[in-house]
Amino acid sequence: MTGCKILITGQEVAKQAKKKDNQILIGFSMDTLREERWQKDKAIFEQKVKELGGDVKTLSANGDDNLQLSQAEQLISQGVDVLVVNPHNSKTTAAIVNKAHKEGIPVIAYDRLIMNADVDLYVTFDNVKVGELQAKAVVDHMAKESKGNMVYLGGADTDNNAKLFREGAMKVLKAEESKGKIKIVYDQYTKDWKPEEAMKNMENALTANKNNVQGVVAANDGVAGGAIQALSAQGLVGKVPVSGQDADLAACQRIAEGKQTMTVYKPIKSIASKAAELAVALAKGEKIEVKNKVHNGKINVPSVFLEPVVVTKDNLVQTVIRDGFHRMEEVYKNVPKDQWPK
Ligand code: GAL
Repeated sequence: MTGCKILITGQEVAKQAKKKDNQILIGFSMDTLREERWQKDKAIFEQKVKELGGDVKTLSANGDDNLQLSQAEQLISQGVDVLVVNPHNSKTTAAIVNKAHKEGIPVIAYDRLIMNADVDLYVTFDNVKVGELQAKAVVDHMAKESKGNMVYLGGADTDNNAKLFREGAMKVLKAEESKGKIKIVYDQYTKDWKPEEAMKNMENALTANKNNVQGVVAANDGVAGGAIQALSAQGLVGKVPVSGQDADLAACQRIAEGKQTMTVYKPIKSIASKAAELAVALAKGEKIEVKNKVHNGKINVPSVFLEPVVVTKDNLVQTVIRDGFHRMEEVYKNVPKDQWPK
C-alpha cells in the first residue's frame, strides 16, 4: 500500500515511544501532599512499583478538582497502563474513570472510593472500623462522673472516607447517647480536612456549650491538632479526651505528652505496597482475585480492606516506633528522658 499516510496522534507517538521500551508505566493521581501521610504514600508506592520493574508518574492536585481532572488527562495521554487515583472529590472523579476507560486504561481507587463509576479495584483500610475505634476510645477515656457532652469533628464532606469514619463513630456514640451516658452537642464536617477549619469549629462548639465539653471525636490528626489548639486556649488540654487518625508525628508527640488520647495508625507500607502490586499485575493483564467488594452507587467494586491499629500512650513503642514509622527520639522529643518507656 504505497502513498498512503498513517496519521499518528501525539498520544500515539507518546504511547509508541513508551511501548517501544515495553516499560510498564503506572499513573498516580493524588488529591494532595499536604497531610504528612500522603508524602509517605507517594514515596512507598513509587519505590514498590520500581521494585516490581515498572515506572511511575505521580501528580498531586493540591485539593483542586479541575486540576486533578486535567492531570489525569495528562497521564492518560502519556499512555499509562494503569491509573491509580486518590480522589479529592469522591463524586467528581467519576469523570476520570470514564476518560481512562475510553483509552482502555483500568483504574484503581486509592484509600478513598470513587463513586458512581466502573472502578476496577479499590484498596483501603476498614474505614467504618476507624470511626468506631475513635469513638470508643474517647468514650472510654471520658470523666465517668459527668454525663458527657460529646463533640464530633468530621473530615471533608467531599471525601467518601469521612462519611465512613462518621458512620462508624456515630454507631458507637448514638448507642451511648441512647443509654443516657453522653449527649452529642456538636457534629460538623471539616472543610478540606484543614486544621484551621477544625479549630474554628471547636471554638464554636466550646462557645455554644460554655466550655462544658467532655470528649472530642476528631476524624484525623490534623483535625485533632486544630481542636487541641482551641481546647488549649480554654485551659482544657489533657482534661478532654481527643481522638485522631494517621499517626502523624505531631499527634504521636501529643499522645506521648498526654495532650491527645489516641490516633488510628494505618501502616502506609501495607496500602501503598498492595496498591503497587495490584497496579503492576493489572498492567501485565494478570487475573486478580480479591476477597471483598463495596458498592459505589453504580457497581460492586472489588476491594481490599486493610486493618487499622489503635495507638495510645501505652503502645507507641510497639506500633509506630517498632515499624520505623517514627523514631523514639522524635516522638518523645518533649518528654524528659527518664520518663521514656524502657
Ligand atoms: C482520608 C484518609 C485519612 C486522612 C484524610 C486526610 O481519606 O483516609 O487517612 O489522611 O483523608 O487526608
